[in-house]
Amino acid sequence: MNEKQSNLILPTHVGIIMDGNGRWAKKRGLPRYVGHTYGAQTFRKITRYISSKGVKVLTLYAFSTENWKRPPEEVGAIMKIFRQYLTDALTDFRDDEIKLVFIGDKSAFDSHMIELINETEEISKNRKGMLLNIAMNYGGRNEILYAVKNLCADVKAGIIQPNDITDKDIQSRLYTANIPDPDLIIRTGGEHRLSNFLLYQSAYSEFYSTETLWPDFNASDFDKAIEEYNQRNRRFGGV
Ligand code: FPP
Repeated sequence: MNEKQSNLILPTHVGIIMDGNGRWAKKRGLPRYVGHTYGAQTFRKITRYISSKGVKVLTLYAFSTENWKRPPEEVGAIMKIFRQYLTDALTDFRDDEIKLVFIGDKSAFDSHMIELINETEEISKNRKGMLLNIAMNYGGRNEILYAVKNLCADVKAGIIQPNDITDKDIQSRLYTANIPDPDLIIRTGGEHRLSNFLLYQSAYSEFYSTETLWPDFNASDFDKAIEEYNQRNRRFGGV
């Protein structure tokens, strides 16, 4: 870390929309799944780097509720990569004390994947380092919908009165309950949209977009995002 970096304020919670794997492969005349394979290597390297910097929470958008619409061969390849990299990452991430949690609707995955997810969470649950949330079959609207359904059930059961519902009652029913909202959301691949990522939690997040495609995203790209984050004037609706 250079001197300039060491004086910067670090966001507590960083979210990343890992985009551009397909384009990265296409530029090289390779099938899209090769881009995902390289993207998975970036996932491993950058997670360790961000943890080494001292970020407390990292949330990575790995697979959205809409990604099932991709051709079955691509979805199959992505699932295979997830299995492989989650297994490998467990060893690396153990040395870094990284705790893994999966956010999203796990029920849509096959039994082997669900087993791997549960095992990964169980093995890492007592680690003291960075919390890594992997958003898989995650959609912000779905997450809010589940929270609303849960609240309605509590209202019906007489546990809570509609007039007493607060923002906290919604927050505590999200996948990210008890986790601070993201301070910074980075999107690779040049698009400027949230694509259903952390919709409720991102109300006051700083958004940073880079043209770098996800497989090429590296430590210096992350440092650039932190430098720009330090130029922002966060007012949270105040003056
Ligand atoms: C976006 O690129 C990436 C994905 C839809 C999912 C795959 C992510 C990985 C393989 C990263 C590794 C994560 C883990 C948890 C191992 P895209 O296909 O949308 O790219 P494009 O916009 O160029 O088409």
